[in-house]
Amino acid sequence: MKKLLLALPKGRILEELKPALQKGGIIPEPDFFDESSRKLIFQTNLDFLEITKVRSFDVATFVKFGAADLGICGLDVLEEFPSNEIFRVVDLKIGKCRLSLASAKNKNIDPLNLHLNSHARIATKYPNLVSAHFANLGIQAEIIKLNGAIEIAQKLGLCDFIVDLVSSGKTLVENNMIELQKILEVSSYLVVNRTSFKVSNQQINHLVKLFDV
Ligand code: PRP
Repeated sequence: MKKLLLALPKGRILEELKPALQKGGIIPEPDFFDESSRKLIFQTNLDFLEITKVRSFDVATFVKFGAADLGICGLDVLEEFPSNEIFRVVDLKIGKCRLSLASAKNKNIDPLNLHLNSHARIATKYPNLVSAHFANLGIQAEIIKLNGAIEIAQKLGLCDFIVDLVSSGKTLVENNMIELQKILEVSSYLVVNRTSFKVSNQQINHLVKLFDV
C-alpha cells in the first residue's frame, strides 16, 4: 500500500508544530526534529503516513501537484499561490503572524494617506499578493521580488516600502522601520491535494480529525 505523504514546513514553525502533532497522536521517528539530519522522508507511528520537511513556499507546490498528499502551510503562501488543487481543511491556529507593509521610521509616511504615493517601489517575497493589494488601493506599485532578509532592501535604498511577515515586530524595530498597514492575518492550515482527498478519503478524514482537536 502506498503511504500518504505529509509535507511540513522547515524553520521556526516546526517548533510550534511539535505540540500539534503530539496532540493529534502523530509521532514522527526521532531524527525528524534533528536539524542536522539530511534524511528527506520520515516514518511515523501511523502505518499509512510518512512525512517530509521542505521550505514553506514549496509545501504548496508539492501539494498542488500531488507529490505530497497533505501539507501544513501558512495562509500567506496559500494566498500567494492560490490553486484549485489545494483544499484548506483545518486552521491549525499556529504560526500566527501578519503580512504587513512597512517603511523606514524617518520617512514619516502616513498610513492613512498611502494613496498620495502615486508610485511605490516595494520589496517582498509575495509579488502576487502585493500587486493585487496595491491595485485595490489604486497605487501603482513596482515590485521587487526577494527571497529573504527583505528588511535590508529598504535600508540599502532598493525600495521605499517592504511587505513582509511580522511576528513579534523585533525585526522591524531593530531596523528602524514601522508597520504601516496590515495586509493579511496569517496562520497555518492543514491542506490536502484534491485528488488525494478523493482517492484516500478515509485515511485523510482520519488525519483531519487528529489535527482538528
Ligand atoms: C521572518 C520575516 C521577518 C521576521 C519577522 O523572517 O520575513 O524578517 O521573520 O519576525 P519578527 O517580527 O518576530 O521579528 P525569517 O526569520 O523567517 O527569515 P527570512 O528573512 O529569511 O524570511
